[in-house]
Amino acid sequence: MSEEVIDYQTILSADSLYHVYESKSEDGNVVALRGLHLKVLPGEAVAVVGPSGSGKSTLLKCLGGLMKPSAGSVSLADKNMTRLTGKELVELRQKTVSFIFQEGNLLPHLSAIDNVAQPLRHQGISSKIAESEAKKLLIELGLESRMRGLPAMLSGGEQQRVAIARALITKPKLILADEPTGSLDPITSRDVLALFKSLHKEKNVSFLIVTHSSEVADFCDRALELRDGRFIAQHGQGFEVEELAESRELLIDEMGMVSLPPDILLKMGGAGRWIVDEVNSDRLILESSKEEVNESLITKNLVLADICPACRYEYTDDTQLCPECGAVRPMIVKEGE
Ligand SMILES: Nc1ncnc2c1ncn2[C@@H]1O[C@H](COP(=O)(O)OP(=O)(O)OP(=O)(O)O)[C@@H](O)[C@H]1O
Ligand SMILES: [Mg+2]
Repeated sequence: MSEEVIDYQTILSADSLYHVYESKSEDGNVVALRGLHLKVLPGEAVAVVGPSGSGKSTLLKCLGGLMKPSAGSVSLADKNMTRLTGKELVELRQKTVSFIFQEGNLLPHLSAIDNVAQPLRHQGISSKIAESEAKKLLIELGLESRMRGLPAMLSGGEQQRVAIARALITKPKLILADEPTGSLDPITSRDVLALFKSLHKEKNVSFLIVTHSSEVADFCDRALELRDGRFIAQHGQGFEVEELAESRELLIDEMGMVSLPPDILLKMGGAGRWIVDEVNSDRLILESSKEEVNESLITKNLVLADICPACRYEYTDDTQLCPECGAVRPMIVKEGE
């Protein structure tokens, strides 16, 4: 088979992406994405890491065209999705991108093999060929004996593997995956990762994978750290998800905004005012301003909370994310101040 000519610069890009979930409840609206910029090159594998509620799934849905972002634009293979007609968008998505979500990937009334074969049939490929391709993939993912089962008869991990097969069968150029190995045991998870690796290396498939797994993050060329709807940092290959603070490059976006991770902000003495002391192209020295300009800005009395507000876990060290529930560790005003 001849290699397809790549006639686009970026497989996926997003510009100033915002998403607000409107709500009339007491909690009010939730701003889930706050002006994200992103570029994924053809053949690149990018991980997205971040605590629960930081906006990872929202980001994936907006990027895949399943949810319209409140503002900003998304391009797939250099085509701006917001400018396409419904039909053009469906066609572009069908030949370019596949999804693996946290839940709801499968059609409940179809057997495993029919779920996997369906996207090919949808493209007009004969049932027989579609079924034989589906079978090959299911065997590769260790599901030979479960092919005729309906989703409800399969375990969570088995359903997840069917969903992965369904995503791979159309040979997409980009795979958007939300915790694809989340419900898998370590051995099955390794098989899935091996399959991803071969697609990445041999077929130049691009990936954007939301993950908590170090192995998945390690397979990616880089990882973006999301927190409260913003990319705050990037990590190179081969880092431990638990040790995010150790291998961090801070990101400054096109607007010149830098969001500091809470541990760094804390080391700098909390929010406040800085005097620019020295600027070079790759170095910026800031000096804390002594001038108490605005009381509300100077929050030097903040410390990391002792107890997780979500699950009441008691922190014993400087961890940033709650090891029990994954919630962001907030900063609170120091007692007695
Ligand atoms: N349908 C919705 N309506 C209102 N708010 C929502 C909705 N979906 C998500 N949110 C809120 O938006 C924020 C981001 O949610 P999102 O699901 O993107 O987080 P996540 O990073 O994927 O979390 P997790 O790791 O738990 O899957 C959260 O504060 C969440 O409560
Ligand atoms: Mg999620």
